[in-house]
Amino acid sequence: MPHPLHSAGPPDWRSQGRTSHTTTPTRPVLLCLLCVLSSLVDLTTACPATCLCNATDVDCSGRGLLSMPALTHLPVTARTLLLPNNHLSSLGPGSFANLTSLERLDLSNNYLDDLPPVLFKDLGNLSDLTLHNNSLRALNRDLFQGLVGLRKLDVSLNGLSDIPLGLLDELQGLTWLSVAGNRLHALERAAFEPLANLQYLQLGANPWECDCNLRDFKHWMEWLLYRGGKVDGVECTLPKDLRGRDIRGVPVEMFNYCLQLDDENRGGGGPRSGGKEGSSPPCGRTTGSGGTGGAPTSEVPAAGDLVPVPDCVRRRYQPVSVRRAIGTVVIAGVVCGIVCIMMVGAAAYGCIYASLMAKYQRELKKRQPLMGDGEGDAEPEDKQISSVA
Ligand SMILES: *[C@@H]1O[C@H](CO)[C@@H](O)[C@H](O)[C@H]1NC(C)=O
Ligand SMILES: *[C@@H]1O[C@H](CO)[C@@H](O)[C@H](O)[C@H]1NC(C)=O
Ligand SMILES: *[C@@H]1O[C@H](CO)[C@@H](O)[C@H](O)[C@H]1NC(C)=O
Ligand SMILES: *[C@@H]1O[C@H](CO)[C@@H](O)[C@H](O)[C@H]1NC(C)=O
Repeated sequence: MPHPLHSAGPPDWRSQGRTSHTTTPTRPVLLCLLCVLSSLVDLTTACPATCLCNATDVDCSGRGLLSMPALTHLPVTARTLLLPNNHLSSLGPGSFANLTSLERLDLSNNYLDDLPPVLFKDLGNLSDLTLHNNSLRALNRDLFQGLVGLRKLDVSLNGLSDIPLGLLDELQGLTWLSVAGNRLHALERAAFEPLANLQYLQLGANPWECDCNLRDFKHWMEWLLYRGGKVDGVECTLPKDLRGRDIRGVPVEMFNYCLQLDDENRGGGGPRSGGKEGSSPPCGRTTGSGGTGGAPTSEVPAAGDLVPVPDCVRRRYQPVSVRRAIGTVVIAGVVCGIVCIMMVGAAAYGCIYASLMAKYQRELKKRQPLMGDGEGDAEPEDKQISSVA
């Protein structure tokens, strides 16, 4: 029902290719062969009406599509599905079901404003996904589940105000990511940390607020640059005195006041640190699955009004540091134990050696008078002292 553009009859391009190599003169056999062939063709390769197909490419770009064409019997070998420059505004949850061989999916220049969770879960072979220039205001944190082979992701030119924690967790092979041209003012370091193979990151044309919210992300970005990655630029919109500056050029010392804010919160704000829920709105904003998207202008604080947020990030990291501390203590304990055992062993060895030496000395002393050596009186005393020492 929602596919007004899908025609039931088989398009021409199929039968043309097949009739050429059936040259049997007897008619019934020919008809039968055609029957069998067309039914086979129907099952394995069905090009959506209005699209152009060959063995590997399905091209539906610029066809004025208002809804997804039926893709249920796409060629099993289809690698590329192109749907840009249409009027798609929503996609059903099973739109890309069973398209396991797909490697490239282009949905740019449409009007998509909301995508169902796990929409791409069957696309384990997809390496390139573009959602450039749509109307997305929020992404469900499960949206990219199953895209384990993805290398390039483009969500630029949308209305995103947030990259939720967990969204990028499965995209560990990602090398190229663009979130440029959205409404992002801060990013959480923890959301980007799974991207261990990222090489190119585009962040431009967003209203970045270069305050404590962005400090941890700045550190992560510096690490990315350090290991050879490329970032296009994070130009600050706020605070006023940093407007137009790239955050990479803002010295770390400028963020020292964030630590002071942290300390003040821990020291002075007793009830604040006790009540974990509800005390800091930014935590709620980022962990919620999508949220309403909200009007970003209402959240923009005045230049002097800096909200101390890194609490959220720190909370996520604390367990790791605590685990590390415990590990350090355990290792130190083991090392100390080994050293102690070695020292005890050395002491025991020393004692045994000393007592053996003393015994030997005593025997020597006993024998010396018998041998009739006159000088023997002074020497044993020396040796005894040295063996005691
Ligand atoms: C399918 O068509 C695309 C262009 O539309 C072309 O680049 C590709 O090589 C074609 N593939 C085959 C197998 O013919
Ligand atoms: C996907 O494949 C499964 C099993 O092969 C089938 O049951 C299901 O109907 C297919 N879904 C679609 C949307 O084609
Ligand atoms: C974005 O998509 C719209 C609608 O498809 C189109 O009119 C516009 O030119 C596109 N903008 C860019 C920058 O591609
Ligand atoms: C990738 O595609 C191949 C066939 O082209 C298929 O055998 C394999 O199962 C696919 N992998 C995933 C994760 O879907």
